[in-house]
Amino acid sequence: VFVMPCATAHMLLNLQYLDLSDNLLTDLTLTETLCNGDGTLKDLRVLNVSGNALKSLSTVSRLVTNLSKLTHLDVSRNGFISMPGGCSWPSTLRYLNISWAKLTTISPCLPETLEVLDLSNNDLKAFILILPALRELHLSGNKILSLPPGWMFPNLQTLTIQVRTNLNISY
Ligand SMILES: *[C@@H]1O[C@H](CO)[C@@H](O)[C@H](O)[C@H]1NC(C)=O
Ligand SMILES: *[C@@H]1O[C@H](CO)[C@@H](O)[C@H](O)[C@H]1NC(C)=O
Repeated sequence: VFVMPCATAHMLLNLQYLDLSDNLLTDLTLTETLCNGDGTLKDLRVLNVSGNALKSLSTVSRLVTNLSKLTHLDVSRNGFISMPGGCSWPSTLRYLNISWAKLTTISPCLPETLEVLDLSNNDLKAFILILPALRELHLSGNKILSLPPGWMFPNLQTLTIQVRTNLNISY
């Protein structure tokens, strides 16, 4: 599918889990699907739009910010190239997957409520951001040059940071 009409979303008031992964959604058609961010799918806990053609993280954050029960957002395997300086997210958001995109830097767009964050397979060179609730951080397949400062994530239990790509350092 490339869109779910807003009128359909209005009929799905009890929907808790929506998986639209591996489809043809764009920023424009996701705007329609989520009724321009008015919070229509008010019971939604999990939204999976992995593997679509989304490009704007600020649009995605604006569209989900009124989904007041959303805990899991999977936007992996989309075309994001940058992260805005600030974003608004539901205060319930715990899991965010933005792996397999083209991000070169991170910003305070990432919310402090996150417990699981997957940014693997981007083009990041550093990861410096205070995320007090974070339990799992996935950074494999980036170009990270030094380990992130540990005091920034006092609750971290899992860190994956394998496979430094596209770097040729000779010793
Ligand atoms: C989203 O869908 C992809 C592909 O179908 C799947 O691999 C992934 O686990 C799903 N994410 C969540 C949070 O359920
Ligand atoms: C994030 O998404 C990728 C690609 O869809 C998937 O392989 C990975 O398992 C997900 N990460 C987590 C922590 O669920």
